[in-house]
Amino acid sequence: PLSTDACATAIGELDITSLPLETRFPPFPLRQYGGFWLLEKFLQGVPAVHSVFEPRSSDILLASFPKCGTTWLKALAFATRNRAEHPLRGLDHPLRRRNPHDIVQYLELQHAQSMGHVVAALPSPRVLSTHLPYSLLPRRITTEESACRIVYICRDPKDAFVSSWFFTKKTVAAAAARARTGEEPPPYMFEEAFELFCDGICVSGPQWRHVLGYWEASRRQPEKVLFLRYEEMLQNPESNVKKLAEFMGCAFSVEEEATGVVQDIVELCSLESLKNMDVNKSGSHGPLAHESFFRKGVAGDWSNHITPAMAERLDKIVEDALQGSGFTF
Ligand code: A3P
Repeated sequence: PLSTDACATAIGELDITSLPLETRFPPFPLRQYGGFWLLEKFLQGVPAVHSVFEPRSSDILLASFPKCGTTWLKALAFATRNRAEHPLRGLDHPLRRRNPHDIVQYLELQHAQSMGHVVAALPSPRVLSTHLPYSLLPRRITTEESACRIVYICRDPKDAFVSSWFFTKKTVAAAAARARTGEEPPPYMFEEAFELFCDGICVSGPQWRHVLGYWEASRRQPEKVLFLRYEEMLQNPESNVKKLAEFMGCAFSVEEEATGVVQDIVELCSLESLKNMDVNKSGSHGPLAHESFFRKGVAGDWSNHITPAMAERLDKIVEDALQGSGFTF
């Protein structure tokens, strides 16, 4: 992958149409840039993120590889950061009325759609999100001088793959139904998708390289980059929410802890709670149905779908790629 500096320099002159194209990952064309396969639609916003996005010291940027718990992190960070303005038990809490992806927007998508005007108009403190790898973030965000903070969520690659398989299959079927041609959607085979994932050909892939970039950044600048693990959050959501609040500069008071505010956040943002909200049972975020963001929400579901031989193969690829880095899943 290119270094952050090299990417930042090159990105101003980026001609997306000249980049390697991959269309076997339906229904989203991917382009390869800086060592990663990125959604073409998101990549279109990257030059503007570099040229016009002005980070604020109060910004929180939620970063993730897709299907690793982005939706959950968006809900938790928003509910935690805005708990004074939006009491958690309030029936009109934004999370009861809007999908987390409509509340916390993708930086690169917003810049592709509106040259960042929507993001610039948001009041502080902003909670934003990105699927960009660390090396493609503008220096204005990553530099020590910028006080904006990054929260990353990491997940076992095998679960990330299985989650993305179900999500993509659903999205492909929904797109075909919308097109109303009566034709079957193109076949999207599990084994083929797995091969592509192993080759790093998936949204923001390779997944392990995406994770490594943020993990290394969190080691270099722990006060700037918080590295969370989906599996640990499932095991102990309350301590992770406290960690998140502290990192975002809005730690819970003794009184808040005593009155169960942390539990209220965990409860409001749980899979069951969000999944059963009317807003998440219908409607869509662009081409993606709200309900498709909520499935099982467990660790280790891969073992129900991937053979031991496939798991061993992916584990070996990941292990080789991470050798010497000090990071393990
Ligand atoms: P599974 O498909 O394994 O169930 P993303 O939000 O990055 O798209 O990730 C989606 C994954 O997170 C899905 O995993 C989904 O079920 C899970 N998820 C969504 N909301 C969640 C929540 N509130 N708590 C825990 N997991 C959640």
